[in-house]
Amino acid sequence: MLELKDLHAEIDGTPILKGLTLTLNPGEVHAVMGPNASGKSTLSKVITGHPDYQVTGGDVCFEGQSILELEPEERAHLGIFLSFQHPVEIAGVTTSVFLKEAVNATRRARGEAELDAAGFLRLAKEKMQLVEMDKSLLHRSLNEGFSGGEKKRNEVFQLAMLEPKLAILDEPDSGLDVDALRIVAQGVQAQRNPERAMLVITHYQRLLEHLTPDFTHVLLDGRIVRSGGPELARQVEERGYQWVREASA
Ligand SMILES: Nc1ncnc2c1ncn2[C@@H]1O[C@H](COP(=O)(O)OP(=O)(O)OP(=O)(O)O)[C@@H](O)[C@H]1O
Ligand SMILES: [Mg+2]
Repeated sequence: MLELKDLHAEIDGTPILKGLTLTLNPGEVHAVMGPNASGKSTLSKVITGHPDYQVTGGDVCFEGQSILELEPEERAHLGIFLSFQHPVEIAGVTTSVFLKEAVNATRRARGEAELDAAGFLRLAKEKMQLVEMDKSLLHRSLNEGFSGGEKKRNEVFQLAMLEPKLAILDEPDSGLDVDALRIVAQGVQAQRNPERAMLVITHYQRLLEHLTPDFTHVLLDGRIVRSGGPELARQVEERGYQWVREASA
């Protein structure tokens, strides 16, 4: 579904991704771990087409086609979703208005009928339960004043509403209390299906206890230097990254 081929990307002339190769097939969940500043969030933004990042080599293919020339909205309409490490706050736009527009834009792109207000609310209430999200957040400005945990729940709620083919989750676990971590992880787990691929960026093995990935990768200095199963996440937790660095040098 997603093929990253020897991907090189930079920001303001500074190389960040330095030959990253990775393939995700439908149904697979891939965890990406790696030290701070290794390029994980950059990877998520390059896939979704953030304009600040320049691709200087390699390719990003989605369902067999290069998407490098596509605008972020076009990539979203193909079914690529990103939940941000730091979700943006939008004053004056309520969560429900924002999300209804996003859901209906997706439905239009798929040639499906748009949801009316009642249909949207019904679906939203059902999906909010998945992450035990407080319904009052629907009527507040998007992410404005949301606690860290509320923002993360809101991201997984959006994932459930938009039903993308490819979901990229950048640290869905950061800042969550232990109960919220389990709820969010189970919410993501419930979104797994045979047609959907997920790329989950995390620092912590505990997320992966609830969301067993098919593959775990370590990203170091802009490249995937090691791939394995769940044991790789446990090794990172116990031993840090120095041994990976040494083993891959
Ligand atoms: N917009 C930007 N302007 C300048 N430098 C940037 C920008 N975005 C990323 N970088 C730099 O690129 C490098 C990789 O950043 P990135 O956010 O991808 O790291 P990360 O692996 O997600 O780290 P973390 O675990 O801390 O979230 C960092 O050195 C960062 O400062
Ligand atoms: Mg990051």
